[in-house]
Amino acid sequence: MRARGVVQPPGDKSISHRVLMLAALARGTSELSGLLTGADVKSSARVLRQVGADISSINDTSVAIHASRFLHPASRLNCGNSGTTARLMLGILAGQTFSATLTGDSSLRRRPMRRVTEPLKQMGADIAERGDGLPLTIRGGKLRGLTYTSPVASAQVKSALLLAGLTGQVPVTIREPYRSRDHTERLFAHLGLGIHERDGAISYQPSAVSIPSFTVTVPGDISSAAFMVAAAVLADNGELLVENVGVNPTRTGILVVLERMGAHVERINLRDAGGEPVADLVVRPAQLRATEVTAPEIPTLVDEVPVLAVLASRAHGATVFRDVGELRVKESNRLELVAANLRAVGARAEARGNDLHIEGSDTPPRGRVVTASDHRLAMAFAVLGTVGGADVRLSEKKSVAISYPDFFRDLKRCFA
Ligand code: S3P
Repeated sequence: MRARGVVQPPGDKSISHRVLMLAALARGTSELSGLLTGADVKSSARVLRQVGADISSINDTSVAIHASRFLHPASRLNCGNSGTTARLMLGILAGQTFSATLTGDSSLRRRPMRRVTEPLKQMGADIAERGDGLPLTIRGGKLRGLTYTSPVASAQVKSALLLAGLTGQVPVTIREPYRSRDHTERLFAHLGLGIHERDGAISYQPSAVSIPSFTVTVPGDISSAAFMVAAAVLADNGELLVENVGVNPTRTGILVVLERMGAHVERINLRDAGGEPVADLVVRPAQLRATEVTAPEIPTLVDEVPVLAVLASRAHGATVFRDVGELRVKESNRLELVAANLRAVGARAEARGNDLHIEGSDTPPRGRVVTASDHRLAMAFAVLGTVGGADVRLSEKKSVAISYPDFFRDLKRCFA
């Protein structure tokens, strides 16, 4: 397989959700460009519209959002497959005076919500839930400030609490075991909202000013770029240029681990977009060696574990990912499914406790993979299917529309 050409990954999913939500809360008209048009971001737009936001169509990467007052929704808020929509909206709704019921698809309804509802209840939100998941009903109101140590390193938990502080106009301080992605903090800082960090704790301090409207360009998603980068590393020859990739250090763990595995990804044209660092990446094929991915590194590459696991299955030696128990509660049980699917195509892989062990090999992968409608499993194993002699069949392909609608077109175009 030869790598060739130039690819631009779709807009960053995490940042797209956040700018939509903040623009919906802002005064005046905000203009957003470079947005992801994938199904998850459409879920956020749909839910925001249901509570009264005036948002133009998300079929285009540019949208305008006009100021509007949030209102009690006429029906349940369906967050689709999107954990970020559900958890961040809970934070926003905690500061509103009406009640709303959130639900989602069968995957999202299985995902834990208590990590967000517990601290929101401590702030004074009234939440009726039947178990640790959706559907649930939240009635916001007058909130109290919160100082909280999260048991999980989760940007969704951190962001939900910061958004509750913002909408409820109360101070919030959060500590987490390891630093998770900091897009919410950067956007707050960019908009002049009172955010600061001291000794690893993130604090929001309300100020009298309302949220100003803004114009922002969302960078490309490194978590989507990761699949193209991985396919280029596995190629036999050639080179791939991946343009406009967000390289926020809380997201670039994949590049750090690739370097350790023997693949150097060059960053060129470093620049800034709305407070986020952006670069173009030059990727060349490499002989990979195994590595140990440590627990503090996991939040910086949490969505890239499936594709890194695929790369580890082609590396020389045994790779271990430490402390990846969180992967059990993503869009699917990624810990078990990554291991089971690698075995299904002839590789040696195993989840032991919360660690993932993978033995590298150069035998061509052959077999059928169960994606469980998880976009990142589908894309990771499609990448494995590009290696010489491979015959990897996917149980479905359409889940890629969640985060990378043009994935198969780009993969075909760049790898021939
Ligand atoms: C996200 C945070 C991560 C990540 C998810 C997006 C975000 O989830 O896996 O795809 O936008 O904040 P957790 O907060 O559950 O780690």
